[in-house]
Amino acid sequence: MPIPSKPEWSHIPAHARHVMLCTGPRCTQRGAQQVWKVVRNELLAAQRMETADGVLLTRTHCQFPCNLGPVATVYPERCWYRIASADDARRLVREHLVAGTPVSALLLNGDTP
Ligand code: FES
Repeated sequence: MPIPSKPEWSHIPAHARHVMLCTGPRCTQRGAQQVWKVVRNELLAAQRMETADGVLLTRTHCQFPCNLGPVATVYPERCWYRIASADDARRLVREHLVAGTPVSALLLNGDTP
């Protein structure tokens, strides 16, 4: 059976930051799907989805600190976040992903950056 293909699947999407949002089983039970929807909608509204100054948003499996979820990691800053509500998701987008300032109140690894 041939592997499906589209021309756009030959390119790395434009982005300045890579956000990996856990949608593993524990984070999903803690609301990760709703967090993903809010982050995605806020990025689209800000015109920062897969743009040169924007974000590549990737859903992942377990990133391991399940008890602290829903977990999102942001690179290149190496920030680990707990995004526990729609309000947290909006803060992540507006303060870090658009304005460029990590949201210290949501960080799991408070010593970073
Ligand atoms: S399920 Fe998200 S960190 Fe484990």
